[in-house]
Amino acid sequence: MSISVSDVHWATAGVMIVNGVSLEVPSGKTLGLIGPNGSGKSSLLRLICRLRKVRSGVIALGDTAIDAMTRHDIARRVAFVEQQATTETQVTVLDVVRLGRTPHRGPWSPWNSADDEAVSNALRQVGMVEKTQQFWHTLSGGERQRVHIARALAQTPSELLLDEPTNHLDIQHQLEILSLVSTLPVTSVIALHDLNLAAMFCDRIAVLNHGRIVAAGTAEEVLTEGLIAEVFGVRAHVERSPHHGRQHIHFLGCILEVPDVR
Ligand SMILES: Nc1ncnc2c1ncn2[C@@H]1O[C@H](COP(=O)(O)OP(=O)(O)OP(=O)(O)O)[C@@H](O)[C@H]1O
Ligand SMILES: [Mg+2]
Repeated sequence: MSISVSDVHWATAGVMIVNGVSLEVPSGKTLGLIGPNGSGKSSLLRLICRLRKVRSGVIALGDTAIDAMTRHDIARRVAFVEQQATTETQVTVLDVVRLGRTPHRGPWSPWNSADDEAVSNALRQVGMVEKTQQFWHTLSGGERQRVHIARALAQTPSELLLDEPTNHLDIQHQLEILSLVSTLPVTSVIALHDLNLAAMFCDRIAVLNHGRIVAAGTAEEVLTEGLIAEVFGVRAHVERSPHHGRQHIHFLGCILEVPDVR
């Protein structure tokens, strides 16, 4: 396994946020992490790259527990695009993407052609080559998101963690970015709110609710009308898409009656 999470707990302020989570992601596969707001998706991603420390349980990358790795070891293999990533204002797109190379460079090692190649590939993959010299603070929301994804790709990770990477992206870029990630030779965990995108692009899906995994498997196994009703409180009609053969979900509405406020 490329990423394995075994019975992981994490609590803060006396509240258990990640409550006995176990999951495994084989090398090169894409796991979609879905669940309502506050269910623990971002917290779990932070634990996987050790921005937070587990209270109990074990997280391993390959055969090595992350507790036995240095920060530098982790940074060389795991790239993380946070849900609300920010960047200093007086920097260009190129400066931001070049930061992705930091874990691969020693304090005295000169910038080399492998660094250049990783940065230009990443800019090309997210379609931001023409904006290379533009200042970060002048970019649109979707362009900023794509630059953060490019920074992660420039890191040439073996594991890629993306927290709602389609935020701010128009539909074309949502499809392009997820299609890119799902075909890259990296192991990915992607927190997503769009269940149809999760079904289209993820090999497997894990559903978090109140810090626990309540379902895991292929989209077909997991994204049932019953589960969507139970976890999200929404009526849905699930069918197989004629275009890509995967689950396709039509949302019919909220299950709870809206109270009459008149
Ligand atoms: N440092 C913290 N202190 C207090 N509460 C926290 C902390 N970090 C997370 N939480 C709480 O843990 C819960 C899970 O948060 P998390 O950000 O992991 O949810 P999420 O599934 O990513 O939600 P969303 O879909 O809204 O991004 C939330 O109720 C949040 O308020
Ligand atoms: Mg989140």
